[in-house]
Amino acid sequence: MPSRAELRQAEPASATREIDAEPYAGETLQGLASKPRVAGTATEGTLVPFAEVDIRTSIRPTVAEIDLGAVQRNLSRFRRVIGPSVAVFGVVKADAYGHGAVPVARALEPLCNALAVSLVEEGLELRAAGVRAPIFVLGAYYNRHQDDVIAQRLTPVVYDLGDLERFGAAAARRGRRIDVHVKVDTGMSRLGVSVDDLPAVLARFDDLSALRLAGLCTHFASADLPDASVTEQALDKFDACIGEAMHAGFTELAHHAANSAAAIRFPRARYAAVRPGLALFGAMPSRHVAVADLEPALRLSTRIMAVHDVPVGTPVSYGGLWRAPRPSRIATLPVGYADGYPRHVRDACALVGGRRVPIVGAVCMDMLMVDVTDVPPADAGLGSVVTLIGRDGAEQITVDDVAGWAGTLSYEILCGISKRVPRIQRDAAIVSTPRP
Ligand SMILES: Cc1ncc(COP(=O)(O)O)c(C=O)c1O
Repeated sequence: MPSRAELRQAEPASATREIDAEPYAGETLQGLASKPRVAGTATEGTLVPFAEVDIRTSIRPTVAEIDLGAVQRNLSRFRRVIGPSVAVFGVVKADAYGHGAVPVARALEPLCNALAVSLVEEGLELRAAGVRAPIFVLGAYYNRHQDDVIAQRLTPVVYDLGDLERFGAAAARRGRRIDVHVKVDTGMSRLGVSVDDLPAVLARFDDLSALRLAGLCTHFASADLPDASVTEQALDKFDACIGEAMHAGFTELAHHAANSAAAIRFPRARYAAVRPGLALFGAMPSRHVAVADLEPALRLSTRIMAVHDVPVGTPVSYGGLWRAPRPSRIATLPVGYADGYPRHVRDACALVGGRRVPIVGAVCMDMLMVDVTDVPPADAGLGSVVTLIGRDGAEQITVDDVAGWAGTLSYEILCGISKRVPRIQRDAAIVSTPRP
C-alpha cells in the first residue's frame, strides 16, 4: 500500500489545461528544476532604442531607462552568493518595482525558476503578455478569483482555510490537481497561518484531493536590520513548521522564505528557493546587506526646459523656501512629484554635464528647479540632459541616495515612479546560460 506521503505527492492522473494548453513540466519546483527552458531573446518586440526616445515616443523628455541586461547580470551575481542548488523565484510585483513587469519578466524568465507577483491581476498581466514561467501569487487577496488563478496556471500562496477550500473546490470543478503553497506567519504578523493552526491546515489536504501541497513559505520582518536574532527566531519557527509538515507526511516539499536580504545574510534561510526582488534591480534593502557589483537597472533622466539668471535673494518655487544666495542660474526640469520624484527631499542633487547640482526650492507637481550656476553654460542650456537617478561621467546618483534625501526606502522611490514616465527598456544581453 502506498504510504501517506506517496499518496500526497502523487501527480494528477490528468490535468485539463484550459488556457495554457502546452504541457509544461507540471507546476512543481522539481519539474522545473529538471527541465530548464531557454527562451528566445528575452525582450522580443518590446524595445525602443533609448537614443530615439525623446523625439519619437515621448513629447516630454522625462524617461526611465531600464537596463534589462543589468537585471540579468544582477541575478547571476545573486546566484553566485546563494549557490547553484537554490532555486530563484524572481519577484516582479508592483510592475517589477517600477521597472516594467512584462519586459523584466521576459528578461528573467529564461534564468529564473519561477516569477512571483503580489496580485492576481499582476499574474494575469504577465500571462496575457505571453509569459509562460510558473508565477507565484504571494500576497493575494483572491476574492472569488480562484478560477482565474487556476485557468491561467498561476500558483497560489494560500494563507487561510477559506481560500484553501475555495481553491480545492475550484480545481475539482475543473478536473485539475493544482499546486498550492501555504504561507505561515513567523513573526511579521501580516499574512500567514499561525504556527498553532498549521496542523489543522495540513490536515485539510487529506480531503482536498484536487490540491497538492508543494511547499511552505514565510516572509521575514527584519532580515535587513542589524539585529539578526529576530530573523534567527523566525527561522526557528519556520523550521518547526517544516518539522510539523514532515510529521504529517509531507516529506518532499519545496520551502521558501528569503527575500534579497535574508538570502544574502542567512544561508539557512535559503531552503529550496529564494524570492529576491530589490537585489535584481541593483539596490539593497539596507546598508547591512551587500552583494558585490550589483548594477542599478533604472536611470531616470530628463532635459532642461527653461533657464533663468536670477539676482541674489530671488525666491525659487512654492513658498519661496529657497532664495538665491548669490546671482544664480536656475534650470527648470519637467519632472515633479506627479512623476514620483519625492516632494520631501532635503539636500538633494541631480547631475548636469557630469556635475552634481543642488535641487533648489520645493519640488512641484510637474517641475523642479536646479541651481546650475557652477556648470559651464554649454552643458546646462535648454535641452541639456539631467540625470536624477543614474550615472553621468564620474558622478552617480543611486536610488538609495534619493531615498535617503526623502527619508524613505529605495523600494518606495522605485515603485513610486509614476505611469506617466515612459519606461524605455534597453536590450537585454542575449541569454546564454539557462537556469540551473
Ligand atoms: C513575500 C515577499 N517575498 C519576497 C519579496 C522580495 O523582497 P526584496 O525586494 O526585499 O528582495 C517581497 C517584497 O516585499 C515579499 O513581500
